[in-house]
Amino acid sequence: MINTVINFAHRGASGTSPENTMAAFRRALELGATGIETDVQRTRDGRLVLIHDEYLMRTTGDERLVEEATAEEIRELDAGSWFDEAFKGERLPFLEELLDLVASTDIILNLELKNSILPYSGMEEQVIAAVRKAGLEEQVLISSFNHYSLAECKRIAPEIQTGVLYVEGLYQPWEYARMFGATALHPYKEAVTPEWVAAAAEAGVAYNPFTVNEAEEMKSLIAAGVNGIITDYPELLHELLTASVF
Ligand code: G3P
Ligand code: MG
Repeated sequence: MINTVINFAHRGASGTSPENTMAAFRRALELGATGIETDVQRTRDGRLVLIHDEYLMRTTGDERLVEEATAEEIRELDAGSWFDEAFKGERLPFLEELLDLVASTDIILNLELKNSILPYSGMEEQVIAAVRKAGLEEQVLISSFNHYSLAECKRIAPEIQTGVLYVEGLYQPWEYARMFGATALHPYKEAVTPEWVAAAAEAGVAYNPFTVNEAEEMKSLIAAGVNGIITDYPELLHELLTASVF
């Protein structure tokens, strides 16, 4: 029997390919992911681009902030070589490219808005317009560490699911989530107990912890009843989910 836990590939299949590139997203699908998590930021001229850090340095070697470079300049950067020469020439994708890929699948796309350090004013409207244009409202789950932004997303698009990112220490976070219409909790992997997952389920709120890369951790979270797991190794989670022990 196939377990229904959503297998979210964190930044794509980032354990085996350069994070947040089309190569990593395509690889995730090949490895059995049923979800993809990615990080959304914005260029100087307003294009939505998929990259984790506010600075371009770690994955492209450029010294600027993402918001200081234009889309055209961003497209010239090599986002693959830092990981492995075999990926030389991979580009930072624009959001629309990933939406196109997802539209040909039935996976869940978790768009993490990276707007808790830099505010990216108006990003919510922009992301939602792109999702609606692609007709992917039912396949997208928007998350953020900026919970005001999640409330804003819900105001703009009540039909799109939202997930509350946090590290730990929230008291009855399912109650908190419901205050602004969020239907998922995305905690750090240690902030999960079977009792909390059950209480959240009772309230109609899902648990999708991050970032879970060890088989033993995956197994105990599956046993705790989580709805999804965010991992750099979707192949490992896929193996566990399709094994007969679950
Ligand atoms: O969305 C889960 C996880 O990606 C949050 O942390 O820093 O990896 O984006 P980070
Ligand atoms: Mg992320």
